[in-house]
Amino acid sequence: MLHDKDRIFTNLYGFRDKSLKGAQARGLWDGTKAIIDQGRDWIIDQMKASGLRGRGGAGFPTGLKWSFMPKVNDGRPHYLVVNADESEPGTCKDREILRNDPHHLVEGCFLASFAMGANVAYIYVRGEFIREREALQRAIDEAYEARLIGKDNIHGYPFDLYVHHGAGAYICGEETALLESLEGKKGQPRLKPPFPANVGLWGCPTTVNNVESIAAAPTILRRGGAWFAGLGRANNTGTKLFCVSGHVNKPATFEEEMGVPFRELIDKHCGGIRGGWDNLLAVIPGGSSVPVVPAADIVDAPMDFDGLRTVGSSLGTAAVIVMDKSTDIVRAIARLSAFYKHESCGQCTPCREGTGWMWRVMERLVEGRAEKAEIDMLFQVTKQIEGHTICALGDAAAWPIQGLIKHFRPVIEARIDAYKASGARAAAE
Ligand code: NAI
Ligand code: SF4
Repeated sequence: MLHDKDRIFTNLYGFRDKSLKGAQARGLWDGTKAIIDQGRDWIIDQMKASGLRGRGGAGFPTGLKWSFMPKVNDGRPHYLVVNADESEPGTCKDREILRNDPHHLVEGCFLASFAMGANVAYIYVRGEFIREREALQRAIDEAYEARLIGKDNIHGYPFDLYVHHGAGAYICGEETALLESLEGKKGQPRLKPPFPANVGLWGCPTTVNNVESIAAAPTILRRGGAWFAGLGRANNTGTKLFCVSGHVNKPATFEEEMGVPFRELIDKHCGGIRGGWDNLLAVIPGGSSVPVVPAADIVDAPMDFDGLRTVGSSLGTAAVIVMDKSTDIVRAIARLSAFYKHESCGQCTPCREGTGWMWRVMERLVEGRAEKAEIDMLFQVTKQIEGHTICALGDAAAWPIQGLIKHFRPVIEARIDAYKASGARAAAE
C-alpha cells in the first residue's frame, strides 16, 4: 500500500494550486540544474535503475528506450515526442496529469530531452482534450516566462516545447501513426522496425513516451532510481495511476503501488463492488485492448504486468473496467468490437476486414442468432488477425473476444439455445 510520502502526483484532483508557484511549492523544478549537471548517462542509468516500465500500455522499460537514442551526432536533430493521445476505452489517467499537475510533464520533457540530446519536444494531445490542452499550454507558458525552458533558459540547455492538438482518431495514439500525423499526414501506423529511435519524426532519432512515464521522471531523478525500484516488486516497480470505472461504488483515478491485489485496490480506493463481492462478474483490467478476466481469477491477482499475465490478461494502461452480474457480457464485448471496427485505419487486410467480420458475428451472438460452430470459427478468425497486422490494433480487437470465448462460452451457447427455442416456440404458435 502506498504511503503519501511516496506519492508522485500530489495534485491529481486539482485541489491545490496548479500554477508554477504551486508546483514549485510541491517540489517541482527544484534542483533541476543539479540533475542536468550529473550528465546524460547518469540520468539514463537512474531511469534504468528505477525499473520504470512504459505507462502507455506496453510496459517497455523507459530507461532502456532512452538509451536507444544514438550517442553519436550524425547531424540529424533528436526529438522527444510525448503521447498524450489518451484514447484507450476506460483510460483517463493522463488527462488528470494534464489538467491538474502539468508541471510534472513539462519538467519531465526538459529532463528527458536533455538525456537524449533533443532540443525540441512535442506533446501530441488528444483532439477531444480541449481544457487539458489549455491547462498544459498555460504550464508551458509559465515555464517559458520563468526561463525554466526556452532557447536561453537558466539551466543552460536550449529547449523548446510545443503542443500539437490531434483531431480525434484513436489510431493516432499508436506511436508511428502519431508521428505521421505530427508530420501533417494521414495518421496510419508505419511498419516497425525501423523503430523511432533510429527513424522517427521527419526521419530523425525520436523517442515516443507516454505522459505518465515522462511526468514520473523528475521525481524519480530527484529521489533516485533505487527509491522507485523499492516500491512494487521486481520487474514491476514503482507506483502507477489506476483508473477504475464501471460497477464499483466510487469510480476513481488514483496512484497506488504496483502489485497491490485487485480486491485491496477496489476496497481501499473505490468503496468495493456494487452489491458486494459476490456480485462481481468480470473485469477488464488494462483498458479495452486486454482480455477480460472472470471474477474468481481476478480477486487475488497482483495488479501489475506479471501478476495479470498469470491470469491471462495484462496491465495495459491500468484502466480497470469492473462489471457486475447485471452486465450482458456478450453485448459488452460486442460494443468493443464495434469500437475497433470503427477505429481501424484500414491499411492491412486482416484488421480492416477482420474487425468488421468479428463485429457482425458478435452482433448476432448478442441475440443468439448463430450456430454454435460459429463460436469456434470466430475464435479462429481472432487467431488469424492476432500477430498478422502492422500495428497492435488488430491484436487489441482480437483479445477481448478470445477472453469472452475462453471464459464465457456457456453464456454464448445458452443464448443460442434460447434463440432457437424462441423460434421453435414462435413456429409452434
Ligand atoms: P510495442 O510493444 O510495439 O512497443 C512499445 C514501445 O517499445 C514502443 O515505443 C516501441 O517503439 C518500443 N520498442 C519495442 N520493441 C523495441 C525494440 N526492439 N527496439 C526499440 N524499441 C522498441 O507496443 P505499442 O504498439 O507501442 O503499444 C501497445 C500498447 O498500447 C497496448 O498494450 C495497449 O495497452 C496500449 N494502448 C494504449 C492506449 C492509450 O490510450 N494509452 C491506446 C491504445 C493502446
Ligand atoms: Fe491500421 Fe488495423 Fe493495420 Fe493497425 S492493424 S495498421 S489499425 S489496419
